Amino acid sequence: MRTRVAIIGSGPAGLLLSQLLDLAGIESVIVERQSADHVKSRIRAGILESASVDLLRRAGVADRLDRAAIEHRGIYLQWPGRRQHLDFTELTGQAVYVYGQTELTADLMAVREKAGQLAFYEATDVAVHDADTDRPSITFVDATGAARRVDAEVVVGCDGYHGPSKQAIPVGLRQTVERAYPFAWLGVLAQVPPSTDELIYAWHPNGFALHSMRSEQVSRFYLQVDPSERIEDWSDDRIWDELSTRLALDGWTLRTGPILEKSVLPMRSFVTTPMRHGRLFLAGDAAHIVPPTGAKGLNLAIADVAVLAPALTALLRDGSTGPADAYSDTALRRVWRSTHFSWWMTTMLHRHGDDFDAQLQLSQLRRVIDSPSAARELAENYAGLPIAGGEDRG
Ligand code: APR
Ligand code: PHB
Repeated sequence: MRTRVAIIGSGPAGLLLSQLLDLAGIESVIVERQSADHVKSRIRAGILESASVDLLRRAGVADRLDRAAIEHRGIYLQWPGRRQHLDFTELTGQAVYVYGQTELTADLMAVREKAGQLAFYEATDVAVHDADTDRPSITFVDATGAARRVDAEVVVGCDGYHGPSKQAIPVGLRQTVERAYPFAWLGVLAQVPPSTDELIYAWHPNGFALHSMRSEQVSRFYLQVDPSERIEDWSDDRIWDELSTRLALDGWTLRTGPILEKSVLPMRSFVTTPMRHGRLFLAGDAAHIVPPTGAKGLNLAIADVAVLAPALTALLRDGSTGPADAYSDTALRRVWRSTHFSWWMTTMLHRHGDDFDAQLQLSQLRRVIDSPSAARELAENYAGLPIAGGEDRG
């Protein structure tokens, strides 16, 4: 079969790209390794920048989000004995929104299904061919076991960290930089009302803890653990004890309840360049991974697509190659800004090294709380930089 854009991956990047291309009158086909239910069941990120929400509204996929998302003015930073609110709205004029990626993926999938999007789920042996020609294609085996081939004008790898599309860029032309952090996150989803109105990022001698949420009835927590930790060694009681210890504050109590899901999540930074080779483009986790401390992963995938969709529209509808030629450099400026911020938040808040390191971290935290300019720097990066350009003058 033929299409204009063949998209590998039906996560937020792939689904949003197909929606934006459709709005521009450009047809696409999505090929996804997992089932639709599996994709929708993934428990991932939960924070949307206002620029992301604006884009989702323009894309026509924000109806439920506008009803269900929780607007947050800012976050709390904490260390033993001190919990201090950072008001992003005061510092930057921008709020952030709590809305689970699970919900967003379901919304995107519903809109694409209603639009009649052609998508192959449970596809195997997905491969990219002739990316450096103007007749690229992908081949795969569909859910019935039939061999398929999709000829396209453009292929977009939205296939995440483990996806194959980046391999279609010749090794000699592809650069990858990666940082494995010496810790992981133990993620917890619990049926308990949040014990806070906004997120709490807590530094503690035992390790970092984060109190997030999904709704008024469901809370999301994370504990810094060693990457080798096994989830079997973390009973619910041990999880609640450790969260209560790390989030402790006089006069405050952590509410506990049934744990719905718990898992150990690795923590890494990863960037592969370029994000374009011939008629192959990469977007989202396919090109970059950030540690989740800065709540950037989902917003970065949205930002890539916000730049890529008009670039492909200019290329395929208007015959203009400029935006597509600039895509990789434009996207990577924001990727590296978000990667640096995520690294900075992670190294400031996660216990590692010796007491000297701990004092440096506590000094950095006090500086952010005491200095309006330091607080604004965190707020601007967290609440969101402009999606395309503007974030740096370089
Ligand atoms: N063939 C087809 N699909 C594939 C293949 C393959 N070989 N390999 C991976 N995929 C699919 C995955 O099953 C997944 O559904 O690609 C999709 C990639 O989606 P995500 O991993 O969600 O990545 P992305 O859409 O870029 O969204 C980034 O998701 O992982 C979180 O923290 C990340 O919040 C960020 C967001
Ligand atoms: C989440 O709610 O899953 C979440 C929130 C903020 C982060 C990371 C994860 O920095």
